[in-house]
Amino acid sequence: MTSFSPRPATNGDRPVIWTVSVSRLSELMRDITLEFDGMADIEPIHLGFDDAVRQLRERLAGERCDVVISAGSNGAYLKSRLPVPVVVVRASGLDAMQALARARKLSSRIALVTYQDGMPALAEFQQAFGLDIVQRTYATEEEARAQVNDLKNDGVEAIVGAGLITDLAIEAGLQGVFIYSAATVRQAFEDALELARLTQLEAGRQRAAPVSESLRARHHVSDLRGESKAMEAVRQSITLLARSPASVLIEGETGSGKELAAQAIHRAHPLAQGRAQHPFVAVNCGALAESLLESELFGHEEGAFTGARRGGRAGLFEAAHGGTLLLDEIGEMPLPLQTRLLRVLEERQVIRVGGTRAIPINVRIISATHCALQARVREGRFRADLYYRLAVLRLYLPPLRERTQDLPQLAQWCLKQALAELEVRAHPNLHAELARCMPLLAGYGWPGNVRELRNVMQRVALWLGG
Ligand SMILES: Nc1ncnc2c1ncn2[C@@H]1O[C@H](COP(=O)(O)OP(=O)(O)OP(=O)(O)O)[C@@H](O)[C@H]1O
Ligand SMILES: [Mg+2]
Repeated sequence: MTSFSPRPATNGDRPVIWTVSVSRLSELMRDITLEFDGMADIEPIHLGFDDAVRQLRERLAGERCDVVISAGSNGAYLKSRLPVPVVVVRASGLDAMQALARARKLSSRIALVTYQDGMPALAEFQQAFGLDIVQRTYATEEEARAQVNDLKNDGVEAIVGAGLITDLAIEAGLQGVFIYSAATVRQAFEDALELARLTQLEAGRQRAAPVSESLRARHHVSDLRGESKAMEAVRQSITLLARSPASVLIEGETGSGKELAAQAIHRAHPLAQGRAQHPFVAVNCGALAESLLESELFGHEEGAFTGARRGGRAGLFEAAHGGTLLLDEIGEMPLPLQTRLLRVLEERQVIRVGGTRAIPINVRIISATHCALQARVREGRFRADLYYRLAVLRLYLPPLRERTQDLPQLAQWCLKQALAELEVRAHPNLHAELARCMPLLAGYGWPGNVRELRNVMQRVALWLGG
């Protein structure tokens, strides 16, 4: 048995994955580890069952590990005995068929020995096609040994199974064919990475401010500055839109103030004014992988997937109950989730991932997008029916280059903010100085809109302060 090698301190954000395996699986794990090397700190641990549990528990007392990957019976054993999530590599039906095909080339008398449940679908397949494959299962090492010896006595010459079975087969003088494929192990690594991200997200949320604090909208309609007619119209629309509970779609280029406008709509709602119990929850639909976004939005029940939180967890829809949910970058939402979202909006209730209970929700939906959502509908990348549900009311934030009258006020405000952050006092002639720069600022295209203007003013402030 191998012991642990010393490991350098890990980078705080990279997921830490330990692979726990013995025999042949270790070789396959090592090959796949190379493919994922850049994405996580992966450490191989060559132990099984009780030895693994003992050593891993000891190490986990002082070291960080986000996810363990282990296969078959070893994985099942570790899963219930470790305080971290365990992704169990399971041989798929395709793995079994490919391995059986390899075994069939070695002999016509072949068997499949699997841990615990067996593969009933394979039995059906084999019956339908008249194939002669013996299937056996085992729960302990003694049983596995007994099955292999029994098969040998029956004249079987090649046995397909996991590491333990192939070792026992070879020990008994038979051919052992390893069941796991690289694709299945690779999938487990992908699941582990996803799970590590989820665990980190969860940890971040637990560290975050109390719900009533973090779920509050900070901005008010008066925070949307600018003296142009266009901006005045935006502020008026916000006050008007806020009165209705209908869904709002906010469109505008990056940095044009969509998030600000969404918060302002929430804050301007007659019920929300001054009442912290109406939550404002925002989620960026483009920043999370599909399955993660799904469980973030809709929540999950205990056991919905490996690592699902005990007792399940409420999703953002539930968290936003009685308030507003901002679906940012809605255009990036994957099609399967669009279908699910549509159902939630139509039925006004959510069912958590892995659950059956319908939970009623009362949430005002605001979506934001910087892409032309209607074009996406035409291209078939966004559901038309969902589009119409989300865009009952619409708000468009014009780009800064089309409202250059806003520049003096915005530039001055951004500069004052930036100077205040640096604790530098504003120059008495600041207003006049900025006014002199206006033709220059107005001639620029501002592709990053107000955010870009703010960044530029931060640099100016540094320069003025330095
Ligand atoms: N009219 C405005 N008045 C004052 N500040 C503004 C205005 N518009 C935008 N900002 C500021 O500009 C920055 C970007 O705004 P916001 O995050 O709302 O943009 P966005 O449209 O959501 O951008 P993205 O598409 O990149 O998410 C923020 O700091 C915001 O406070
Ligand atoms: Mg935004």
